[in-house]
Amino acid sequence: MMTFDNKEELLKITRGHPNAKLLLRIAVDDSKSQVKLSTKFGATLGTVGSLLKRAHELDLDVKGVSFHVGSLCTDSVAYRWAIEEAHHVFEQARLIGFHLDLLDIGGGFSGHGLEMVLNSKATVWVIALDEFFPADSGVRVIAEPGRYFVDSAFTLALNVFARKKVWSLPINGNGLDTMIMYYVTDGLHGAFGINKLHPDMKPFVLRPHRVLSNSSNICYLGPTCDSADRIMDVWMPELNIGDWILVDNFGAYTIPLPTDFNGFEKPTIYLVVTPQIWKMLNFKVIVWMLSERERERDSF
Ligand SMILES: Cc1ncc(COP(=O)(O)O)c(C=O)c1O
Repeated sequence: MMTFDNKEELLKITRGHPNAKLLLRIAVDDSKSQVKLSTKFGATLGTVGSLLKRAHELDLDVKGVSFHVGSLCTDSVAYRWAIEEAHHVFEQARLIGFHLDLLDIGGGFSGHGLEMVLNSKATVWVIALDEFFPADSGVRVIAEPGRYFVDSAFTLALNVFARKKVWSLPINGNGLDTMIMYYVTDGLHGAFGINKLHPDMKPFVLRPHRVLSNSSNICYLGPTCDSADRIMDVWMPELNIGDWILVDNFGAYTIPLPTDFNGFEKPTIYLVVTPQIWKMLNFKVIVWMLSERERERDSF
């Protein structure tokens, strides 16, 4: 089973896998998501008809439709629109002679308690599925959750190692404003990779929030020489050199991405368990796993 979104792909499939089951990936509105995917993947609705006709001419087996609203989608209405568009494609396919029975609603689901929890019956997208693909429609619905499983697996610890105050021109109004630039130990070339810091990641400072900065201009920069290495613009209390910023829910699309560009080390990972969980886990197995890891490292 595989997806397609263009005619060239259909020709490749005809040559390589003529019996494959195909899902037509459609481009949907991803404007409410942190990582956009529809500019790179998915057929626009205007091309769907001709693609389905070509697949029919090539005697290919189109079984359904897939989409991805983009990763870390913050508005479940995006799913509703996409589901409605997918329904429209099902109708088009029926007129061309296909019987579609599979809908793949992709990923994008946050794993840290936003409103889009996968098993909730009340979310906008579950309601949309009931409306456009009710149980008696015979359409099987699948998803491809990725970040959902790992968002909350890590907390990132950033250390402020430098700061400077500069004058800047305010966006509105006259005169000069100040901007505080914080230089922190991780950035775009490290664990931030494709992530921008998002308020739902709940960054906080590891000390009582004493002084609130009265400057609205704050930026946080990664350690490398790259001037684009700017990671977040969220509001936080004024920070001092040596302060730690902790970022919860920093598990998705982080650990595989760091480079050692400019000689900065990749983030160190510390495993943390509560005493209760430690007791629940089989202690002997953990000791064995750790010693195996050390053995592998030594032999390397
Ligand atoms: C085709 C496809 N499915 C699923 C995923 C997982 O998405 P997410 O981590 O946003 O749930 C991705 C991520 O890019 C993807 O490209």
